Amino acid sequence: MPADVLEKLVSLCKRRGYIFQSSEIYGGAGAVWDYGPLGVEFKRNLKDRWWHAMVRSRDDIEGLDAAILMHPRVWEASGHVAVFNDPLVDCKACKARFRADQLMDSQCPRKPSKHPGEHNECQLTEPRQFNLMFKTYIGPVEDSASIAYLRPETAQGIYVNFLNVQQSTRQKIPFGIAQIGKAFRNEITPGNFIFRTREFEQMEMQFFVDPQDDHMKWFEYWKQQRMEWHQSLGLEADRLKFHQHTPQELAHYARAGFDVHFDFGGTLGFQEIEGVHHRGDYDLSRHQEYSSKKLEYFDQPNNRRFVPYVIETSVGCDRTALALLVNAYREEEVPGEQEGRVVLRLHPALAPVKAGIFPLVKKDGMPEIAEKLANELRPHFPVFYDESGAIGRRYRRQDEVGTPFCITVDGETVSAGTVTIRDRDSLAQVRVPLTQVRDHIDKLVR
Ligand code: GAP
Repeated sequence: MPADVLEKLVSLCKRRGYIFQSSEIYGGAGAVWDYGPLGVEFKRNLKDRWWHAMVRSRDDIEGLDAAILMHPRVWEASGHVAVFNDPLVDCKACKARFRADQLMDSQCPRKPSKHPGEHNECQLTEPRQFNLMFKTYIGPVEDSASIAYLRPETAQGIYVNFLNVQQSTRQKIPFGIAQIGKAFRNEITPGNFIFRTREFEQMEMQFFVDPQDDHMKWFEYWKQQRMEWHQSLGLEADRLKFHQHTPQELAHYARAGFDVHFDFGGTLGFQEIEGVHHRGDYDLSRHQEYSSKKLEYFDQPNNRRFVPYVIETSVGCDRTALALLVNAYREEEVPGEQEGRVVLRLHPALAPVKAGIFPLVKKDGMPEIAEKLANELRPHFPVFYDESGAIGRRYRRQDEVGTPFCITVDGETVSAGTVTIRDRDSLAQVRVPLTQVRDHIDKLVR
């Protein structure tokens, strides 16, 4: 995305309560962000859409909410202790750190702006491996026996619970387990707002299949499902594409991988928002080996036991939120008005506030009717009541945060019991009886 669009989004998100820098009054914490009143609703709507598509609307996927802290052996078994590393170089002169494999995408802090290693003063060290997991200790003693890690992916909580879920739900293979949760990575080069952060949320689903079944068919199926889901959120089809992992790009657990890429524009261009991975039996077999507990599925009709293969879909919630904001952000002319507007054309189901409710003027009984309407609608969807300033300004304020509908109470409401409902995108206004406002908006939001 053009740098100025990212800057404008960062500023809009702060000004209007979408996203704040974490610990801002202390100068900020490195690459972590807080979601404000509008942001938390937006993100919750996004997670709800995913949960609905992946869990509630299917009978072959179960939900789970596993803990962030796990037994440290989990991360030895998963391979993360040994190989979840990025190569890092230090500059002895300016003390900055860079990813050795991304020097040409990094900036040296010295002026004029150059890549690391290009100034005469630069003194880059040899690359060394840097593990991305955050380490902590469980209990009061800080020794090697009490080491724990903040999980770098939610998937492992699913693998270690595979049999608990399968046996308690009596699901038959093929079936999946899904969860949404925080993940943590001590990224060397975080940045671009909420694109790459050190604390983020993932929405992951592990689908267990019979190795003797046509597992590549499931891999293709999930690729298509996930692409369609992104489009259903309103991400433009021509800004989405698949990227197939080369053998060098494949994660240590994967046999095959495709990323869903979104075009953020500008210098970022196409970037990953989701990964679909064929993990084979890597994870379950490793957990069997490290825990000495069987993680086999019993296929009763065929009297056969096997370790299933796993097809994983893993989407970043924050990164998708950024894609949606970039996709939605517009600066537009407004016909018949001198001032243009900034508008977030978010899918109505994702918008944090569904309707702004305004009395046209602060007299003649209009505020009372508008407030009553707001109170009636509030239990059904988030609304925002506003009676201050010119009506045009109130519309603009709602456009800027992506509110899809604005309801105005005017003279005709008082005399005939109808309101106008203005559509954020087309700017068209329709008159609707007060008694039908809820149904009207409900239908459009869905
Ligand atoms: N379990 C598989 C896995 O974690 P991944 O490709 O490393 O795969 C999946 O991560 C998704 O998580 C990415 O597509 C991205 O959306 C999100 N993600 C990964 N690292 C991130 C970070 N540092 N900040 C924000 N999102 C991140």
